[in-house]
Amino acid sequence: MSQRTFSIIKPDAVRKGYTAAILAELEKAGFKIVAIKRISISNAQAEGFYHVHSARPFFGSLTQFMSSGPIFPMVLEKDNAIADLRKLMGATNPANAEEGTIRKKFAGSIEENAIHGSDAEDTAAFEIGYFFAGLELA
Ligand code: CMP
Repeated sequence: MSQRTFSIIKPDAVRKGYTAAILAELEKAGFKIVAIKRISISNAQAEGFYHVHSARPFFGSLTQFMSSGPIFPMVLEKDNAIADLRKLMGATNPANAEEGTIRKKFAGSIEENAIHGSDAEDTAAFEIGYFFAGLELA
């Protein structure tokens, strides 16, 4: 069944000029780009997005990184979108990511790992709503 998920092309990938290549990977894998925009977020906005990680030792560094430059948040749609995007992204740490995955190709480190993807339906709903208004998804 068709499903929506949320993704971000992170500041490291945007800085390195990988945006178009990552979008091409997503389209090649059958994802429809329902909404996308280029924005920069503040440290406080990054903290709100990653609130579930607030107790983790890397939280401060993560939110600083995510607010360090432009990002492309987007809403993607296909059958089984949430699980399929996680598979296409590869492991959080690119050192452990499978050959052919986006993180294997484009990520530099466990933090600067090129792309984010929602891990479940409830987080996808929160994350889509955090970045996009209903009007942008019609
Ligand atoms: P993401 O899928 O966006 O979810 C949380 C993010 O935190 C993750 O990708 C990485 O960017 C970052 N992250 C996860 N684990 C670590 C870690 N051990 N050290 C630094 N950053 C991490």
